[in-house]
Parts: sequence; C-alpha cells; structure tokens
Amino acid sequence: MGKKEQNRMPLWEALCAYRAEGIIPFHVPGHKQGRGNPELEEKLGSTTLGIDLTCMEGLDNILNPLDVIREAQDLAAKSFRAEHAYFLVNGTTSGIQAMIMAVCAPGEKIIIPRNAHRSAISGLILSGVQPVYLQPEVDQRFGIAYGITPEDIERALLEHPDAKGVFVINPTYYGVAPDLAGIVEVAHSRDVPVLVDEAHGAHLCFHPELPPSAMEAGADLSAASTHKLTGSLTQSSLLLQQGSLVNPQRVKGVLNLTQTTSPSYILLASLDLARKQMALSGTRLLAATLRKAHWVRRQLSHLPGIELLEEKHIEGRPGCRYLDPTKITINVRQLGLSGQEVESILRHKYRIQVELSDLYNILLLLSIGDTWEMVQHLVASFQDLVTTWSKGGSISKFTRALPPLPDALVSPRDAFYGETKVVSLADAEGEISAEMIMAYPPGIPLICPGERFTRDIIDYIRILKAEGLVLQGTEDPHLEQVKVLTQNIVLVQKYRAFSEEVGS
Ligand SMILES: Cc1ncc(COP(=O)(O)O)c(C=O)c1O
Repeated sequence: MGKKEQNRMPLWEALCAYRAEGIIPFHVPGHKQGRGNPELEEKLGSTTLGIDLTCMEGLDNILNPLDVIREAQDLAAKSFRAEHAYFLVNGTTSGIQAMIMAVCAPGEKIIIPRNAHRSAISGLILSGVQPVYLQPEVDQRFGIAYGITPEDIERALLEHPDAKGVFVINPTYYGVAPDLAGIVEVAHSRDVPVLVDEAHGAHLCFHPELPPSAMEAGADLSAASTHKLTGSLTQSSLLLQQGSLVNPQRVKGVLNLTQTTSPSYILLASLDLARKQMALSGTRLLAATLRKAHWVRRQLSHLPGIELLEEKHIEGRPGCRYLDPTKITINVRQLGLSGQEVESILRHKYRIQVELSDLYNILLLLSIGDTWEMVQHLVASFQDLVTTWSKGGSISKFTRALPPLPDALVSPRDAFYGETKVVSLADAEGEISAEMIMAYPPGIPLICPGERFTRDIIDYIRILKAEGLVLQGTEDPHLEQVKVLTQNIVLVQKYRAFSEEVGS
C-alpha cells in the first residue's frame, strides 16, 4: 500500500476546489452552503455547510462513480485490503441488505447464524431470501452468544447444497471472532460466497494483534461500520469486495436500488478522511488503543465482584477463535447488580456512558478516540463503584439450554406481509409467528417471523419472563399476546410451491 498515494483525499480535495472557485449555487441543497440558514451555519460550522453539496461536474455521482468518488473508493479498497470498496451513507445496514440481495434471489437459501443483527433479518424480508439458521454456542457464565464453526457450515451445506451464500458475524458485538478463514475454505470448496457483517470490525485489518478482517480471511463481501470503530461520521460505512464468486456489477446494481440519489457529501468526505488516517496512522493509533485496553483490563481484573471476558474464557470453545481486546465485556453479577443497573450508576454518578448493557454484563468500547485521562477516570470510577454500590450476593443465573430451533414454514418476507391476528402466548402452540421474540441475554431470537410456536418455546419464554429477563421484538411489551399469521395454510402452500419452482 503506497503511503504517498494514501496521503491523497480525492473527494475532500474536489469539495474544497468547488468552494474555492466561488461557484454560485443554483442547485440543491436549498440552504445554498449556509446562505439560506445562518443559524444552521453558525451551529454546524461553515466548512460543514460549505461542503454539503450534491452530485455534479467535478464531484462525481455515487450511483455510477467514475471520477473523484471512484478514486476515493479505490484508495479505500487498497487500504482495507479489498479489490473493490463502495461508500455507504446509510450505515452498515444498507451494506448487509445489499450483500444478501447481491448473492441470493427471492426464495433462495442463505446460511445465517441465529444471532444475526436485525439489519440481516430486514435484508431477508426485503429480498425474500429463505434463511437456514444456525444456533451459535452460548456462554452460560456471561450469557452471550458466540460465533459459528467451519464444521457448522460444512454440515449446513451438506444438508442444504442449494444454499447460495454463507453469512458470518466478525466479530460479535462482544468482540468474539470465529475461525473465518476455516469457514471461507469450507464455503469456497463448494463455490459458495461468504458475506460478513463487520459492523464491529472496521479496524481489524490495521493491527496484527486484532482478529483477521473478513478480507484478510478471504471472504467475498464485508459490510464494515467505519463510523463505529474508525474515524468517519455516523452512518458512513464501507462495503468491501474481493474474488470472483460475486459479480461487482451485480453489487453495484443492488446498491443502486436502495442508495439515496442525494448522498451526503459530508459523510462521503468523512470516509475519505478516515481512510487516509487509518492507512497512514492506523497501526500506530491502534497500538496506543490496545495499550490502553490492556491497562484497563489489568486494573479492572483485580476488582472484587466483577469478571472480564478474556481469552481464557473462549479458548477451545466452538465459534471462538479470537478476542478483540478493545471490546471490554464486564460481568457484574457478583456485585448483586444487573448490567442495566451498573449502566445507570455509571451514567448518573460517574458521567460514563457504556456501549450496551444486558442482564449480566456491560460492554465498553475503546477506540482511537480514547485518551489516558478518559481511561483513568473509567478505572477510578469502577474502583469506587465496586465498593460503594455493590449489593453483595449474585443476581440469578439462568442456565437452561435454549429450546430446539422451531420449524420454518414461511419465509420472513411472507410472514412480514401476511395477514395476522393476535393470540395469547399460552395458546400460541402450532401457530406461525409474525414477530421475532428475542431474549437478552443471549441476544438470540427464540422464534423468528415464519416459524411455528412449539410448547418448548412457549414454556421457555414464560420461564425467562419469570426470571425477569428482557424480551424484545413483540408489539405487546408485556408479551402476554403474540402476533401470528391467519392464513397459515395458504401461505405455507404458497411458500412450498415457490420453493419447489426455484429448486426445479
Ligand atoms: C452486529 C451488527 N450488525 C449490523 C449493524 C448495523 O450497522 P449500522 O448501524 O452501521 O447500520 C449493527 C449496529 O449496531 C450491529 O451491531
């Protein structure tokens, strides 16, 4: 990767040139670089409004980039170790949807872990693709779901040789990464492309101590939230591609279905600037982040009542090959507090906001933006919290195994569009769900749209509710009632007929 080349910022330079020329804007946006809304300019800054421009001569067009967006994307591809990069202004969500639509046609199958993010489920609904769900391993101590293994993929591909893609998360929110290279090897031996949700992995390729990125592991497509863990603005992400299993024209075509025709040049410019920063200084910046992460881990690991998710917890476990040390999961059960309670104490007593909390844990994310002052305040706050706020004892530990995966009778898309009725949870056995019911922990849906309620699932949901676990996804916040399909038989027949047609 040429440092001199990566020093360039083609898109940023083009925006500056447009401003410097003093062109009189008879075009959108209507604020005309701030002239039309002085308060907006005063509050957001004249540079921001000055580059809030639109597709035109000299600034290229995101739907068919041939000029400065193309050059900026090519530099991003090189820096993120890909062959192609596509700028996204609607988050990694739009990249995930595009990956699924680029690889599978309606009714075709994709192999996908059960703990996939809601953006993947929305991708299934939009595309009409049929999921083959894999149940990931769950760590009962931390109550979190891990990844999937090459063996899981091998088995799934043997059972579903007609699957058109394999979808993988690298790494999970909690920083656990699977043996992605092994998964790629298995999938590629059958010419099946691997699509990776890298919402929490945009920084991986810039430091050797971090888990391998999707592109380094040989995956075909990866949607990476550059805004989450490198320095671009919220909503800006990258879709990365390599290899010959997926046609780049197809990816571009799919992106053009859903991308806005008015992309924010502020977001696009931030991708250009963040790419330059990571290409030139990413390794050094991440080395400093890792030093802070290891220091925080060492300091917190001595404190009573809390336990950190560490390499030793994942060693040898299925679906766990690497741990990203910059994501610090802290189990707080032995403080006698839930993760949600600790989140609230940190926010209101110590001015600290965590990334997320669940029943047992809080998650802290460290990035290139953290200073020593910040991490020292974090450690000092925790030292105080464990003595001042600990209630002693341990909050309940739920150890029952997840119920078996239910039958999927209708695609998520048909379930989404199907006619529904509301029934009480107690009477739902045999009905086809129109909703997803998700339990935190471990963040895995117990039932997805299109799947049939079993007695096991209903009993499990009732036990979780009695344990006080957070359940999400239903219209009824108390989960007394669930939404199910009315036209079960018609839809099932329609789906079966469609699957047979696709298969024949
Ligand atoms: C695992 C995972 N995938 C995908 C996404 C979607 O990313 P974005 O917010 O950039 O659209 C998220 C967002 O939090 C996520 O956690």
